[in-house]
Amino acid sequence: MVAVKYIQADGVEYNVSVPVGSTLMQGAVSNMVEGILAECGGSCACATCHCYVGDEWLSKLSEADELEKETLEMVDNVMRGSRLSCQITVTEAMDGITVNIPESQC
Ligand code: FES
Repeated sequence: MVAVKYIQADGVEYNVSVPVGSTLMQGAVSNMVEGILAECGGSCACATCHCYVGDEWLSKLSEADELEKETLEMVDNVMRGSRLSCQITVTEAMDGITVNIPESQC
């Protein structure tokens, strides 16, 4: 398990433990973190699991593949650090990561 902090746009924080090998989306949904909708269930088709990852953590994540980049094009509020949380597999190196949730999805 690794510690993950999800922060909503209004500042509400969720400090949860997420199993290594699951995804940041699964960690949010299973802990009832509001704002990660994950309508497609993690198949990289809906972009409603959009999140922001800080620069200090990006190097610890696998890079977005072409499908994730294409799906992110559906999102209006893309910024530096935008990722689809269903495409980020949790590793030990991510212990303590902070994940920011956009004000709205798509
Ligand atoms: Fe649909 Fe991530 S859950 S793209």
